[in-house]
Amino acid sequence: MIPKRVHCFEMRVAVIGAGAAGLCAARHLLDKRRSWCSEVVVYEQSGAVGGIWVYSERAGTDKYGVPFTAMYQNLRTNLPKEIMAFPDHAFKSDLPSFVGHSNVKEYLESYADKFEIRKHIQFHTKVELVRPTASKDGSSKCVWEVTVSNVINKSMVTEIFDVVLVCSGHYSKPYSPHIPGIEQFKGQIMHSKDYRFPEAFAGKNVVLLGAGPSGTDIAIEVSASAKAVVLSHCRRLPFLLPSNVSLAPGVDHFLEDRVVFLDGTEHPADVFILCTGYQLFYPYLSQEVGLQVRENSVTPLYKHIICTKFPSLFFIGLCSKICPFPQFHCQVLFVLSVLDGSYMLPTEAEMNSAVEEAYKSCMSRGISLRHFHTLDQLQWEYNDDLACLGKFNPLPAYTRSIYVAVKKSMAKDFLGYKNINYRIISDGEWLLDGEK
Ligand SMILES: Cc1cc2nc3c(=O)[nH]c(=O)nc-3n(C[C@H](O)[C@H](O)[C@H](O)COP(=O)(O)OP(=O)(O)OC[C@H]3O[C@@H](n4cnc5c(N)ncnc54)[C@H](O)[C@@H]3O)c2cc1C
Ligand SMILES: *[C@@H]1O[C@H](CO)[C@@H](O)[C@H](O)[C@H]1NC(C)=O
Ligand SMILES: *[C@@H]1O[C@H](CO)[C@@H](O)[C@H](O)[C@H]1NC(C)=O
Repeated sequence: MIPKRVHCFEMRVAVIGAGAAGLCAARHLLDKRRSWCSEVVVYEQSGAVGGIWVYSERAGTDKYGVPFTAMYQNLRTNLPKEIMAFPDHAFKSDLPSFVGHSNVKEYLESYADKFEIRKHIQFHTKVELVRPTASKDGSSKCVWEVTVSNVINKSMVTEIFDVVLVCSGHYSKPYSPHIPGIEQFKGQIMHSKDYRFPEAFAGKNVVLLGAGPSGTDIAIEVSASAKAVVLSHCRRLPFLLPSNVSLAPGVDHFLEDRVVFLDGTEHPADVFILCTGYQLFYPYLSQEVGLQVRENSVTPLYKHIICTKFPSLFFIGLCSKICPFPQFHCQVLFVLSVLDGSYMLPTEAEMNSAVEEAYKSCMSRGISLRHFHTLDQLQWEYNDDLACLGKFNPLPAYTRSIYVAVKKSMAKDFLGYKNINYRIISDGEWLLDGEK
């Protein structure tokens, strides 16, 4: 266990990943006011900062075996830069509200530079194992053995840390449901993670499964040049798609050259794109950590962040259907309040029963475990709760009101909502520019 007044000793902190979450963690740990944090090491398996926002034309893995991200050429953000940004660093003012992926990557690079994070990052270094162990200093303290490999020369090193922050993202291991008849299907099958540009689908019959942000976005892109596009999904779409994207219910099975849907209708398919999301995956966490990943939730984690058994292991960025960077900011500041002792954590038993309650509440609202970390409307209360407990400034009021306005304008005009620009006047006030 970490002692109650942890801020009395010097702490070494490991951060896994240099995407938005890891950069945010490093930025606040390195804040001069936190002199108790003696060293921060950020491990990043790739050669760049930015995580998911690092685009590669190629899919699969690079020459060192490190996976390329799910980013595609024409992606524009689905949130305006005004609320995508961390509260302490704005995007460039000359950019429109909805920007391309390279603008987000540049933004994260400028955040890393402004807060002098880069010199703390070990690039091309992959975390292989994170294991709790008793401290050698004779106290009852638990510390972390972190084993990393250099992806270029494969050498391994193990280092000891007091605290570990898991910031490795959750868009790297595709989730692909088994569909009967898939073995006999002669067309191409791919996951949206490997989608890059629409030209590859010109003149083809394309069937996509899943109507989340990627499924709808990719369906619209490929519809400009494909022969026909069918989007198969099992939910109610809150917006209209262009007329040349047809909708179909879920997939029942494959035949050699076509897909048969649950209602018995069928459609020829040259390409089948699974837009079925991702699985949580923490291959480097040892058994002893005692966390379980079941049905896409990690448990038991107090407030989606803290490992209840070893409360010096933290997860940043696990939740979905949120405004990501601002939430990472809140989660990181909350973790710091735990580390410096300004927020006193409940006991392990109390935290476990809070997690149990949260599971029950999820069930009683008819929400499957698969969506345990999906916050949606609950995100504002959650962020405010963290700010209140951690005694830091809550997010500016416009974060929520712009987010809600964007969802409304998306429902009204799915093809046009990214042409609107938002302008912030003050904490509670903002304007629309260029609404047609
Ligand atoms: C296609 C797509 C579009 C999106 N669009 C938007 C949008 O418009 N607006 C928005 O706000 N959000 C969007 N998001 C959400 C986005 O994921 C978050 O905004 C945020 O960038 C996630 O940051 P992260 O740091 O948690 O994870 P990531 O960006 O995935 O970063 C994780 C990092 O950890 C590294 N890593 C992983 N495992 C290891 C290991 N074992 N050892 C060392 N390093 C490791 C990875 O290399 C990576 O650099 C989108 C996501 C996707 C997939
Ligand atoms: C591998 O590369 C790292 C980083 O450059 C270096 O510190 C280490 O000594 C190298 N190991 C071997 C076995 O070459
Ligand atoms: C589908 O619609 C888009 C506009 O919504 C258009 O650009 C594209 O050319 C259309 N494709 C076909 C095959 O009609």
